[in-house]
Amino acid sequence: MNVLLTGGAGYIGTHTCVELIKAGHKAIIADNFSNSSPKAVERVEEITNTKIPLYKIDVCDKEAVEKLFSENKIEAVIHFAGLKAVGESCAIPLAYYRNNIDSTLTLLEVMKKHGVKNFVFSSSATVYGIPEKVPLVEGMPTGCTNPYGWTKLMNEQILQDAANADEELSVVLLRYFNPIGAHESGRIGENPNGIPNNLMPYITQVAAGRLKCLGVFGNDYNTHDGTGVRDYIHVVDLAKGHVKAINYAQEHKGTEIFNLGTGVGYSVLDIVKAFIKANKIEIPFEIKPRRAGDIDECYADPTKAREVLGWQAEKSLEEMCRDSWNWQSNNINGYD
Ligand code: NAD
Ligand code: UFG
Repeated sequence: MNVLLTGGAGYIGTHTCVELIKAGHKAIIADNFSNSSPKAVERVEEITNTKIPLYKIDVCDKEAVEKLFSENKIEAVIHFAGLKAVGESCAIPLAYYRNNIDSTLTLLEVMKKHGVKNFVFSSSATVYGIPEKVPLVEGMPTGCTNPYGWTKLMNEQILQDAANADEELSVVLLRYFNPIGAHESGRIGENPNGIPNNLMPYITQVAAGRLKCLGVFGNDYNTHDGTGVRDYIHVVDLAKGHVKAINYAQEHKGTEIFNLGTGVGYSVLDIVKAFIKANKIEIPFEIKPRRAGDIDECYADPTKAREVLGWQAEKSLEEMCRDSWNWQSNNINGYD
C-alpha cells in the first residue's frame, strides 16, 4: 500500500517507515520539522536503500495536504504528527489543541475528498489518566490530567465519530506505552530538543557526558522499590505494530483500539540498573521529589493486540538499553 506518514521524520515515524518499507509498502512522509530533522529521513533512505517522497508541510495546512494527496495515490494514513511534551502542553494548551486536533480534522477532510479509507492514529497510554488498576485493558475508563492527553482522547473521539458516519472508513487507534531503544544500525533514534523530559534519553545523555546526573523523581511510590513503574517497549517492536495495524485496517471497517506495550512494568531503578549492566557505564543518580502528575504504575494488558492483530513485543529490556546507547554513543549530538 501507499502509506502517508505524517510526522514521519520523528522518533516513532522513522522507525515505522523502515518497517513498512521492509514489509513491501511504499512510504510518503509529511513533516514540518518542528521537532525533527530532514537528516532523519535521509538516514531512513540509507537503511532501506529507498528514495522516500518527502513533503515539508504543516498537516494543518489544508491546501498543502490537498496538493500532496493530488500528487500521490495515498491508500492509508498513519498520523504521528503532533506536539507531545506534557509539561509544555500545560504552558501553551491552545497551541497543542490547535496543532493536534486541527491536523486530524484536516487529514480526515482531505481523505474523504480523495476516497482514502484507512487511518492509523498515534494515541497514548496517557488516555487512561490515573488508572484504578493495572494492567490496563482497552475497555477501561479514560480521563486525562493534562492538555496533551486531552488532545489524544479528543482525537480518539473524533476518529470514532468519523468512522461511525462512514461505513467504509477504517480507524485503528494505537495506545503506545513507553517507547525506548533505537534501530539496531544506530543510524536513527530519539533526538529530543533541549533537556530531555523522558527517562531513557536523559539516561543516555548522562552516559554521554552531556548531563551530569539523573534525577529519579520520587522513591515513595506504591511499587516494588518505590520508584515509578512503566511499560517500556522497544521502538522497533512498536513500529512493527503499525505494519500489523495497516494490514488490519485494510481488511476491517469501523474503529478498533489496541494497547501497544509489553505487559511488563519496570521501575526507574530497574531501568537504570539494566542500562548499567547492558552497557557497562555508570549512571550517577539522585533521588528528587516526585514530578507533578506522575502515577505509581502504568503497564498494558497487550492480549488484544496479540489475539486480534497477531502482534506482540519481542525485544528484551537488555536490547532496549543496548540499542538506546548504540544510537546515542554514535550520535552524541543527535542528527546535528
Ligand atoms: P516526534 O516529535 O519525534 O515526532 C512527531 C513529528 O511530527 C515530528 O517530526 C514533528 O516535526 C512532526 N509534526 C508535529 N506537528 C506537525 C504538523 N502540524 N505538521 C507536520 N509535522 C508535524 O514524536 P514521536 O515520539 O515520534 O511521537 C509520534 C506520535 O506518537 C505523537 O503523536 C506522539 O504524541 C505519540 N506518542 C508518543 C509517545 C512517546 O513516548 N514518544 C508515547 C505515546 C504517544
Ligand atoms: N523519570 C525520572 N527522571 C527523569 C525522567 C523520568 O525519574 O529524568 C521517571 C518518571 O517519574 C516516570 C518514569 O521515569 O516514573 C517514566 O517517565 P517518562 O517521562 O519517560 O514517561 P511517562 O510515563 O511520564 O510518559 C511517557 C510520555 C507520555 C505518554 C506516556 C504513556 O512522555 O507522553 O509515556 O505513553 F503519554
